[in-house]
Amino acid sequence: MNHFQYKGNELFAEDVALKDIAAQVGTPFYAYSHATLTRHFTAFDGAFADVPHTICYSVKANSTQSVLKTFINLGGGVDIVSGGELYRALKAGVDPGKVVYSGVGKKDDEIEYALTTGILMFNVESEQELTRISEIARRTGKKAGIAIRVNPDVDPGTHPYITTGLKNAKFGITIDRAMEEYTRAATLPGIDVVGIDMHIGSQLTKVNPFVDSIEKLKIMIARLRGQGIDLKYFDCGGGLGIQYNEEEPPVPADYGKEIVNATKDLGMHLVFEPGRNLVGNAGILVSKCLFTKARDDKNFIMIDAGMNDLARPALYDSFHGVQAVKKDQDGMIVADIVGPICESGDFLVKGREVPMFRQGDLVAFMSAGAYGFAMSSSYNSRPRVAEVMVKGDRFEVVRERETIEDLIKGEKMATFL
Ligand code: LLP
Repeated sequence: MNHFQYKGNELFAEDVALKDIAAQVGTPFYAYSHATLTRHFTAFDGAFADVPHTICYSVKANSTQSVLKTFINLGGGVDIVSGGELYRALKAGVDPGKVVYSGVGKKDDEIEYALTTGILMFNVESEQELTRISEIARRTGKKAGIAIRVNPDVDPGTHPYITTGLKNAKFGITIDRAMEEYTRAATLPGIDVVGIDMHIGSQLTKVNPFVDSIEKLKIMIARLRGQGIDLKYFDCGGGLGIQYNEEEPPVPADYGKEIVNATKDLGMHLVFEPGRNLVGNAGILVSKCLFTKARDDKNFIMIDAGMNDLARPALYDSFHGVQAVKKDQDGMIVADIVGPICESGDFLVKGREVPMFRQGDLVAFMSAGAYGFAMSSSYNSRPRVAEVMVKGDRFEVVRERETIEDLIKGEKMATFL
């Protein structure tokens, strides 16, 4: 069920009219549907009901505390890539035993923080990182659980900027080197070898690349077992895509079936790091039309949200559906929907047929729950927008709109001025 639907002419999030949120909170704002978040988590989790598994939600997709708490309440853990994400997740009440830590650039203080917290495992992305984690673990009298993030050299068939599992990518360790590193890891004093990890890219719309990668890792696992290195956790990463426009990604149940089938003989505990799949279609960005202008061959709709609020179209040419919050436009128009930022790349829609918005109309950008607010900035000194969570007929502001005073928080005037 789609929880962003019209009732009469008005677009609703669950049982709340978006115009009522706009009236109270102002624009722009992100709105998340609690029922959708819950359904997505439950569907993903349910796809693996028959095997031991942990869903470690990838915090980077949407790191807002109330979103994290929604998944934690459902039994979720988290995939983090920084000390900041660890802090957020702990504040939201995550069980440290359900935290996996990925990323190619872990700093000493972040490694130490994660060790002190007692996370499940570090997904190690380089030889030097393995050595460093061992050193820090020894110094702090701890043992670090690790998995090696293997780069399986499989093409996920997605946008080049979000492809991570090809061997020219900065991510992970190639299969041959990983075998050597496992042998070395087993001898390192601060290290407890507990798993194997992969993450090959984002917004995948086919299951084969996942299965092909798993097959490659299975060969490694068999060889490692032969050497007496037995791994407990198989972290399959994230990456399952969603529908933005006309994509037809597999539903979690179908993805689950194939993954379970590919891994069933291993007897391992599966870990997943879904981000987009859980939050993408659970959130929208609502903005207001400020002005319109027409040129001979071009129409522009200027709105109060820009690339600093939703960067995906500018960065990846991504598609986000557009809907009128009140359906009373006089038809459709081919236009660019652009923000106030002083850059030509500042568009949310380019040359597409959209409702003929007029000054003051509210515009909803769909499928904006993942990598939306999380990638926003205050470029052009635009305060970051408010976030709202809707549950049934109520809504709450889960992050206040930033103020202009917030913009200079932490700045200090140089004393020599
Ligand atoms: N695990 C690791 C190690 C990752 O790097 C990522 C995403 C995920 C899990 C979650 O992937 P997902 O399930 O969300 O596909 N900003 C881009 C997406 C960047 C993805 C980065 N890594 C976008 O807006 O499309």
